[in-house]
Amino acid sequence: MSNRQRWATRSGLILALAGNAIGLGNFLRFPVQAAQNGGGAFMIPYFFALLVIGLPMMWLECAIGRLGGKHGHGHAAGMIDLLWDHPAAKYVGSLGLFIPFTIGIYYVYISSWTLAFSVFSLVGSYSGLTTRAEMGAFLSAFQGVTVNNHFGSVATAYLAYLATLGLTVSVLLGGVARGIERLAKVAIPTLFLLGAFLAARVLMFGTPDPAHPDWNVSNGLGFVWNPDFAALADPGVWVAAAGQIFFSLSIGWGIIHTYVSYLREDDDVALTGMSTVGLNEFAEVLLGGTIALTAAVAFFGVTATEDIANGGAFDLGFQAMPLIFERIAFGNFIGCLWFLLLFFAGLTSAVAMAQPMIALLEEGWNLSRRRAVAIVAAAFFVLTQPVIFFHGYGFLDELDYWVGTVGLMVFALLEVVVFAWIYGIDKGWEQINRGAAIKPWPLSKPVTKYLTPAFLATILIWWLISEVPAKLAMEGVAPEARPYVIGARLMVLGLLLGIFALVRQVSANWSSESGEAGK
Ligand code: PHE
Repeated sequence: MSNRQRWATRSGLILALAGNAIGLGNFLRFPVQAAQNGGGAFMIPYFFALLVIGLPMMWLECAIGRLGGKHGHGHAAGMIDLLWDHPAAKYVGSLGLFIPFTIGIYYVYISSWTLAFSVFSLVGSYSGLTTRAEMGAFLSAFQGVTVNNHFGSVATAYLAYLATLGLTVSVLLGGVARGIERLAKVAIPTLFLLGAFLAARVLMFGTPDPAHPDWNVSNGLGFVWNPDFAALADPGVWVAAAGQIFFSLSIGWGIIHTYVSYLREDDDVALTGMSTVGLNEFAEVLLGGTIALTAAVAFFGVTATEDIANGGAFDLGFQAMPLIFERIAFGNFIGCLWFLLLFFAGLTSAVAMAQPMIALLEEGWNLSRRRAVAIVAAAFFVLTQPVIFFHGYGFLDELDYWVGTVGLMVFALLEVVVFAWIYGIDKGWEQINRGAAIKPWPLSKPVTKYLTPAFLATILIWWLISEVPAKLAMEGVAPEARPYVIGARLMVLGLLLGIFALVRQVSANWSSESGEAGK
């Protein structure tokens, strides 16, 4: 397909993939997961999952993506159909459209909070608030969950959302090279500079409160880096670590496929995939792990940091960090930089989440990019309304659980089985090696065939047994929130079926080439 869009430069593609992978997950989700799972105890399963799932899956998805692009497909539904000559293949692949689209619905909104908070920091909207409870009240009023003297409604958040959606759309309108790649070339270097500056600043905190000599930077670093072998017996830690690898590397989503499909047939994917993993891990472990966690331990101690993390995904970034900024010199400015860092991370990921659906519309119905972007943006806008207005009832969390946690692993498991067992690991391995600028780690071949699916299946089964029943029964959900939780589930189901229907319709045009990739 010669008329496919292409990346303009190789470095541009790597930056775009890094922009895709590096997101709020690196700076907000990673520290929270690490703290909830015992700091150093988390890191061993984390690195294990990185080697056993992260890198192999990244290579596999890159190989599938490039193959798909060769056949004119920019989304996983068409790609899985190439690998597996079976009517179910396109539905398996449809998960790679459903997941990013559904998560995009709330991810753009969350990214918009970081934009708003960068302004709040600069102008001092939260200055004078000194406790987590006060900062929490500020955040929840901003989200429209409560009303207090900070915010009377969700209007400010709504405006920030519109601005963020508008920016996302303007990048997407530029297309792959002139939109996404150009954004990444500016945003990713900026993000690394900001991250390095913030991490350096945090490392200079020393012992901020002489009354608590053990609240200090070295204990903060020790919290992340002192391994705790006892915790390895807890399956929950392994699940959390694997989940973080998926979320952070953007694997099991269907998006890596889309980005790589804009490569040429013989372009390298091995080095590209490895560079993406390397950049993401640098941002996650060294920058993400240092900034928020070390700062929190230095200012509040280990016990309080764990407690903050247990409060949920946002307490660390939006409650604890602002309190710290208030206590340091030039805190307004540094706080603004922290939220801008998050915003850049979020924006480059948000555009990625929209792109598979745009590709489906462009390729399936021959729509112009403008049209396709307009449709996806309008759908995002409409579907985000309940996320905004029902935030207090756990609507967002419910979407995130089924799609952002369970969904990723289901898709990844199906995909690795199709690739390694149906398409065949030998052919698959050839695909990974074709045009490779480095020699991929040879052990990765048997790992991809046996260990990755076994590990994923174990996690999913453990989950089905230990977590899903209570979740389905809505244990711990307040009675007044239940209708909203059910609504969120219906929305997930509706989107899944809707996307199945769309894919079914377009697949009529490509089913004839099924199995062709086997040649
Ligand atoms: N990896 C991103 C993060 O860490 C999330 C993401 C996943 C973004 C998939 C784009 C595509 O926040």
